[in-house]
Amino acid sequence: MGPRTQALPGNVGPDLSEIATLGRTDQWLFNYVFDPRVYNPQSVMPPWGKHGFYNEAEIRDIVAFLKTLKTPAKFADPLDDPAKRPMPIEDRDALDPFVNPAADRIEIGAALFKQPGANGQACVSCHATPAASFKRWAVEMPKWEARLTKVLGVEEFIARHAKATTGADVPMQSPGNNDLSIYLHSLANGETIKVDLSSPEMKAAYERGVKLSELKVGQFDFACIDCHQQAANKWIRGQWLGEPKGQFDHFPLWRTSRNQIWDIRKRFQWCNVQVRANELPPDAVEYGELELYLRKMNEGLVLTAPNIRH
Ligand code: HEC
Ligand code: HEC
Repeated sequence: MGPRTQALPGNVGPDLSEIATLGRTDQWLFNYVFDPRVYNPQSVMPPWGKHGFYNEAEIRDIVAFLKTLKTPAKFADPLDDPAKRPMPIEDRDALDPFVNPAADRIEIGAALFKQPGANGQACVSCHATPAASFKRWAVEMPKWEARLTKVLGVEEFIARHAKATTGADVPMQSPGNNDLSIYLHSLANGETIKVDLSSPEMKAAYERGVKLSELKVGQFDFACIDCHQQAANKWIRGQWLGEPKGQFDHFPLWRTSRNQIWDIRKRFQWCNVQVRANELPPDAVEYGELELYLRKMNEGLVLTAPNIRH
């Protein structure tokens, strides 16, 4: 539904091509479209009427249309059928700079590491052997920072630590921050992701992250797990929905569809915008906790960064 809907049908919701033959009353259909939770409290379908996407006259029009649907959908190409379409597999060589423009940034990040900041110091002034010192650092993030009483990810650490030590201004999601993040991640490539929840602070933050992943937000009323768990391994508007495991072993990445480098927080912001929720600032406490939850789901996987995705 809607002008920006992609042509390829999804299969998060049931096939409605014969809905008119099921004997539903107009009133039942109206109520279901208005707010499906009246009949199915677990539904992930947006409450189209209740959340103001459509007014009552529009929902009556939708019901009239649904009452015409009696013949099974025919797909021009069998691969248009979401049940037959294969899941997308990323097989480009992420570390080949000819394929992945973000791979070029590894060297630029390495150069930034040696470049003095406002106070004359460079990262390398204090960290003379980064390849050895930071071999596992990026795969053991994010971490609880007691002085700030919040979970810090790689990119927020870089922004704060650079300012404090070299005086360099590399706010989250700025080119310099992305470059240093890509460089520090690349030093940990091939290492296994590990999340240490042994401290009570980390454990509590992780548990808050789990709760946040279940929190329904936005006009669409979607929680992370509605798409990435309940509807995982299905298609939504022509896009494949992945499970949490496998979603966070390859950031930062290059998005070919946007020609941009995205860190994990940018991805969270976009998943918020997609459900018509307000995005949070990249250093939001909640994103730190979500990042910790998602990292835990990816524990045991091997880091390959920067990666490349559509
Ligand atoms: C003035 C010395 C100094 C400079 C300059 C400096 N650091 Fe650090 N760095 C430290 C110290 C001390 C620690 C450990 C204590 C802490 O967490 O503050 C540290 C910790 C780190 C860690 C985490 C290591 C761990 O085991 O947790 C990383 C990564 C790091 N620095 C990267 C950088 C980068 C990138 C830059 C340049 C933007 C930089 N550092 C500049 C002194 C410095
Ligand atoms: C409306 C459904 C929907 C909701 C809700 C949603 N996402 Fe997503 N998410 C997507 C789609 C679609 C993609 C893109 C699929 C892709 O790139 O493989 C995606 C991609 C991602 C990715 C990147 C996966 C990759 O392999 O690069 C992450 C990480 C992610 N989502 C996390 C979240 C988090 C955390 C939340 C909750 C704050 C959330 N998503 C909520 C639909 C959703």
